[in-house]
Amino acid sequence: TSSLKAAGAAHGLLVGCAVDTRALRADTAYAALVAEQASIVVAENAMKWGALHPARDTYDFEQADSLVAFAEGHRIKVRGHNLCWHRYVPEWVMRLSPGAQAKGVFVEHIERVAGRYAGRMHSWDVVNEAIEVKDGRADGMRVSPWLSLVGDDYIEVAFRAARAADPQALLTYNEYGIEGEDEASYRKRRAVLMLLRRLKARNVPVDAMGVQSHLSAGDASYGPGLRGFLKDMRELDLQVFLTEMDVNDRALPADVAVRDKAVAGVYGRYLDLVLADPAVTAVLTWGITDRYTWLNHEGSRKDQLSERALPFDVDYRGKEAFDATIDAIDRR
Ligand code: G3I
Repeated sequence: TSSLKAAGAAHGLLVGCAVDTRALRADTAYAALVAEQASIVVAENAMKWGALHPARDTYDFEQADSLVAFAEGHRIKVRGHNLCWHRYVPEWVMRLSPGAQAKGVFVEHIERVAGRYAGRMHSWDVVNEAIEVKDGRADGMRVSPWLSLVGDDYIEVAFRAARAADPQALLTYNEYGIEGEDEASYRKRRAVLMLLRRLKARNVPVDAMGVQSHLSAGDASYGPGLRGFLKDMRELDLQVFLTEMDVNDRALPADVAVRDKAVAGVYGRYLDLVLADPAVTAVLTWGITDRYTWLNHEGSRKDQLSERALPFDVDYRGKEAFDATIDAIDRR
């Protein structure tokens, strides 16, 4: 197979990536690569509060619209990311008075944004990263600005508003740090499961679980904990999307051959485990080329070399991680 999307199509899977909307317009080779490889895309930043809603009465949909137009022009599905997150919240929001005023702004944003693309989105990450077992509350809830601004029920409020604004999109709860076999992953998976059970018990419209999958080619291992979690999701009638997969190689020495082999190994083993579960219907990497990856900015390699975390290198050549991804999909 020559593309991720063709491999996915043969095995009932949408495959794609997060897109840098500025690069999409400035870099035609990058746009061609995305169009060739992806059956689903998501904006890496362009649909977040900080990008869309710079002031209370100002929305800026230019970047977000351009991604949706590109996707529709190439018959690519679009995920929305995200309607509620504790990061990239504009300053003006933080100054709102908690309670009715803040709740009004919160719901209005969700209605406006989800409503704009209603009927055209595959799914929305309605709430992103709301669980924090280390520094969060006893019930696992992260001390997010939205918790104090809107109230304890902000997650429920968000999902109900999103459903009303776009009844067709699959509404998703998206989370990171729930992939591993370490104690922290076990605790976080447990807290996420409890949250989803609470929401389902209250008939909150949740359709899918997003497992971000920011992985590491170091010592991490993946196994029964995640496998059990996928089964839990199936039992709750939730689809599962891998929403933000990448494999950082910062623990490895500079040698490219060594890094590429290790990264590809994680792609293959992780996807084998996850794709064995029929609940999983979409896989997206967080970027497609090592030229544009957040990993080069946040906590990057000490030797300043570019990370080799994605299927394509900085010159848009497929790496071993690309072959490993195709092979894992073909084994499904
Ligand atoms: O657009 C401005 C630019 O005008 C300005 O000159 C520049 C100076 O810092 O900042 C630019 O904004 C940056 C934005 O990315 C767009 O490039 C922000 O500073 C930077 O913080 C932001 O980082 C993004 C981060 O989320 C925070 O929104 C990363 O690109 C993005 O990869 C990352 O994605 C998150 C997911 O949403 C949720 N899961 C984890 C994942 C990785 O952290």
